[in-house]
Amino acid sequence: MTIKILNASAIRHLHSGQVIVDILAIVKELLENSLDAHATSIDLVFMNNGLEFVQIKDNGEGIEEGDRLCVAKRHYTSKLSEFHDLEVIQSYGFRGEALNSICVVSDKVVITTKTKTDPIAKQYDVNKEGTISNEKVANTIASSGTIVTLYKPFYNLPVRRQLAQKNATSTMKKVQELLTKYALAHPNVRFACTQSTNAGGRKPSNNTWIKPITETIETSVSILFGPRLADMTERFIETDEEDPILTVDVVLPKKNSDPSIVLKGPENVFFYCNQRPINYVKSELKDIVSNIRVRYKDAIGLNVDNNQKLPFIYLDIQIPPSEYDVNVEPDKTTVLFHKKDRIYNIVKKILDEIYPTKMEKFFNK
Ligand SMILES: Nc1ncnc2c1ncn2[C@@H]1O[C@H](COP(=O)(O)OP(=O)(O)OP(=O)(O)O)[C@@H](O)[C@H]1O
Ligand SMILES: [Mg+2]
Repeated sequence: MTIKILNASAIRHLHSGQVIVDILAIVKELLENSLDAHATSIDLVFMNNGLEFVQIKDNGEGIEEGDRLCVAKRHYTSKLSEFHDLEVIQSYGFRGEALNSICVVSDKVVITTKTKTDPIAKQYDVNKEGTISNEKVANTIASSGTIVTLYKPFYNLPVRRQLAQKNATSTMKKVQELLTKYALAHPNVRFACTQSTNAGGRKPSNNTWIKPITETIETSVSILFGPRLADMTERFIETDEEDPILTVDVVLPKKNSDPSIVLKGPENVFFYCNQRPINYVKSELKDIVSNIRVRYKDAIGLNVDNNQKLPFIYLDIQIPPSEYDVNVEPDKTTVLFHKKDRIYNIVKKILDEIYPTKMEKFFNK
């Protein structure tokens, strides 16, 4: 067998496959780019479950004219210049590959952008290599922001495309769950999602979901999950006394809440690090989730073993980026913490407050 170098196009396809595995991954990357651009309003549109096109419009900072040539080039990023910058950056993105990978797997990508100082927005076509062309003026952005539209995702990867078609409905459900995760962690951002269909020449039908800007996470809980659940939960923010750089912010069921409302299974667990959704199942902190389950059920007198369901959990670990590593998996949803015992301790303190054990109740009398 001879060893030879892969051609550039094959390399691009192989790379893109790691990040952009499905429409859900595309949405995640686009959402994160909009949040990194400090958008306070994000609109997503899916035509035919995203199989026709996916569009995201934000009111973020927009892309400077001088940066547009390399916006979708692989390894071009405005967020990181040295590897060590990872210790200080707060942005979701840092690899400079998401947009490029999206271009590789889409039939066509169109980017429209405007900064506050630009007199008018400009629209660009972006090809597979991430090269922009065909610049024209557009009046689709009033102040500042960016619109990214990608057509026919995975059209050039038949197996992925077939899978995307087969899983279209379940993917849209997952998109909704993903949006909920980001919407919950960002009270100050309005999120909207429209699903449209235009099949068979029939009149297009639209279905829109909106999370408005809210004052607090508690209000977001009420809007996203209903006032009944919101009434049965409480927020707690605890900062480590010895090491004030670590804060844990939680919304958890009250100790007298109705389990039929707060116990909904794994889909109601929202685990974050600095507002980045993290996969608690893969995370080294998954014990925290099972601890909360046990303490809550203990507090309300439910048999822990007979009921594996999880209560509603919102938990955000706020800690400087130098205290953890997010560059672990392609999708950045796994985080390795340097001082996980500190996090366990602080969560335990919160749980002792919300769900006092019999001994604690006795001593507090
Ligand atoms: N919605 C947006 N608004 C403003 N700038 C954007 C937007 N989307 C992308 N950009 C710019 O394009 C660059 C490339 O985006 P891309 O998502 O490919 O990489 P990244 O976010 O830097 O890193 P990662 O690959 O980890 O997401 C960003 O660094 C940012 O400067
Ligand atoms: Mg990005």
